[in-house]
Amino acid sequence: MAVLVTGGTGYIGSHTCVEFIQKGQELVILDNLCNSKAEVVDHIETLTGIRPRFYKADLLDIDAVKKVFDENDIDTVIHFAGLKAVGESVAKPLEYYTNNIVGTLNLLSEMRKHNCFNLIFSSSATVYGKPKTVPIKEDFELTTTNPYGTTKLYIEQILKDLCVSDNRFSVVLLRYFNPIGAHESGLLGDNPNGIPNNLMPYVTRVAKGILPHLNVFGNDYDTPDGTGVRDYIHVLDLASGHYAALKALSERGVHIYNLGTGNGYSVLDIINAFERVNDVKIPYQIAERRPGDIAECYADASKAEFELGWKAIRSLDDMCASAWNFEKNL
Ligand code: NAD
Ligand code: UFG
Repeated sequence: MAVLVTGGTGYIGSHTCVEFIQKGQELVILDNLCNSKAEVVDHIETLTGIRPRFYKADLLDIDAVKKVFDENDIDTVIHFAGLKAVGESVAKPLEYYTNNIVGTLNLLSEMRKHNCFNLIFSSSATVYGKPKTVPIKEDFELTTTNPYGTTKLYIEQILKDLCVSDNRFSVVLLRYFNPIGAHESGLLGDNPNGIPNNLMPYVTRVAKGILPHLNVFGNDYDTPDGTGVRDYIHVLDLASGHYAALKALSERGVHIYNLGTGNGYSVLDIINAFERVNDVKIPYQIAERRPGDIAECYADASKAEFELGWKAIRSLDDMCASAWNFEKNL
């Protein structure tokens, strides 16, 4: 029996593949490489000694998805594949709805045809919109502010409806907070195309001199230093959270978990930690608030700890050191 990892050559998927292979799990990867590179499969092999079977395939191509299920004995799917840039989703809503939602529908229909009923889905803290209070618990109100977030919310609803209609399915919705950091080898990490939208890849490119300075989007929020506060979680902790989530699949229906640390750090905290840990300078300027940003977002991650026995263990210093180690290796 194998686990299918869609989006397995991407940032979070690749780290999760390493974690699963190291735990002895047989894996198959499906990715269309629209935001990752085939050489990631080589890196996974280098780190684990095992080369997972890789299909360069698009979830929108249902025949290609069928082929993956026909050729492998898949009993569980971890579904990372999707487009994830918030700003781009505002400019290209139809592309985002098609890729993320139709891609998921194709995957689900092939799963059902092949008697595969276990799914772990990459959701996001973005489904909490602008939370009224923090820390955020799983039962908070759900709302979104951009098409990317709406795809996550709709897919969550589709999966809830599916489980009501067919009690053979077990689904885990993992709501990630802000994944940063990289594998300690420097072989895997976050390497977005073009100018990064997210804070940490922007910071590492400033540190390397590829970008001149960081724009800090607003210093007048109602937070301790006025800059935005987020729950940054090491990507390796996130990867182990997926392994822990297998436990929840043993009970049918939908299970929802926040994957975060429960700690909030500001943009200035990140700059200061990165400079201190790596002994580099991050020139920055205070800029306008970024439209759609919220002041504060951090998790109550106690449900995952209580039910899955999972807890994030890596520090902000680990996240900053590993992110810089990866960038230097590129
Ligand atoms: P990523 O872009 O690095 O990985 C996604 C992978 O999916 C890429 O390798 C891409 O080539 C592939 N893909 C996209 N559309 C596809 C399709 N139609 N068919 C096949 N492959 C396709 O992103 P990531 O940061 O690793 O994120 C993984 C998942 O986690 C995404 O669903 C994302 O929305 C979600 N998520 C990410 C974050 C974050 O900050 N990184 C936060 C919350 C949730
Ligand atoms: N920021 C800057 N300058 C930058 C980039 C970001 O000051 O160049 C600030 C933002 O204003 C925010 C913080 O850094 O306060 C984090 O911003 P990110 O773009 O790294 O992350 P977001 O919290 O905005 O969003 C991320 C993902 C979403 C996901 C969400 C889940 O991009 O897809 O985390 O919590 F939904």
